[in-house]
Amino acid sequence: MKAITTATLKKWKQEGKKFASLTAYDASFAATFESQGVPVMLVGDSLGMVLQGHRDTLPVTVEQIAYHTRCVRAGAQKALIIADMPFMSYATREQAFESAAALMQAGAQMVKLEGGEWLLDTVRGLTERGIPVCAHLGLTPQSVHQFGGFKVQGRDSEQANRILEQAKGLEQAGASLLVLECIPSALARHITESLSIPVIGIGAGPDTDAQILVMHDVLGITSGYIPKFSKNYITEHGTIQAAAAAFVREVEEGIFPAAEHGFE
Ligand code: KIV
Ligand code: NA
Repeated sequence: MKAITTATLKKWKQEGKKFASLTAYDASFAATFESQGVPVMLVGDSLGMVLQGHRDTLPVTVEQIAYHTRCVRAGAQKALIIADMPFMSYATREQAFESAAALMQAGAQMVKLEGGEWLLDTVRGLTERGIPVCAHLGLTPQSVHQFGGFKVQGRDSEQANRILEQAKGLEQAGASLLVLECIPSALARHITESLSIPVIGIGAGPDTDAQILVMHDVLGITSGYIPKFSKNYITEHGTIQAAAAAFVREVEEGIFPAAEHGFE
């Protein structure tokens, strides 16, 4: 695998080449996923749930994401690494600059933040300062208490239109990538077609440019339930290596996600 950059992802979008992404939190998994062709890894604040056992992502700190980013960077030489900006670490522009600097210095090549209109100035400020930004819309888990639970977003046309406008605004503000989480498949397709930056979906149907899953879900080790939009690749493929390779292949070939993984 060649070193993956923001330019690589942009080129893939133009060529219509779909790509896979997994979360990773340590060097061994990062190296394993890279060896199986995973081009993009996210040090997600999902680590608050899957590593720390919390009920949501709110307790996660910048220091913790920075630590896990250093671990992932140590294991992955070529993959593009995105680090999540934790809850309230980008409440103001200045806070965002400070948090993003810590994550970039820990080895990330891009930072991800959740939200729409209120973030446009921040996204502009980060990109002007040389920090690539991945935006995140739809079910943004840091707002779970505002939403009243982990619920699919954008189901009525007013909300759907708002998400589309937010996506366009974030691209305009300089975002290099966009994650769409748990929105109707038709809305995700419309947004993907409306943007020139790559769109990564999770619970957003088959028509985004890329797919991401939490590694624990792919490996069938999520405690409790496995989300509808996720897929356990271990049962069928046996080893972690084969599971990662199968996920990459199924995303590239458009086999995953199937209709049953999406929302109407
Ligand atoms: O934290 C995370 O793992 C994420 C992905 C699910 C997109 O934000
Ligand atoms: Na996250």
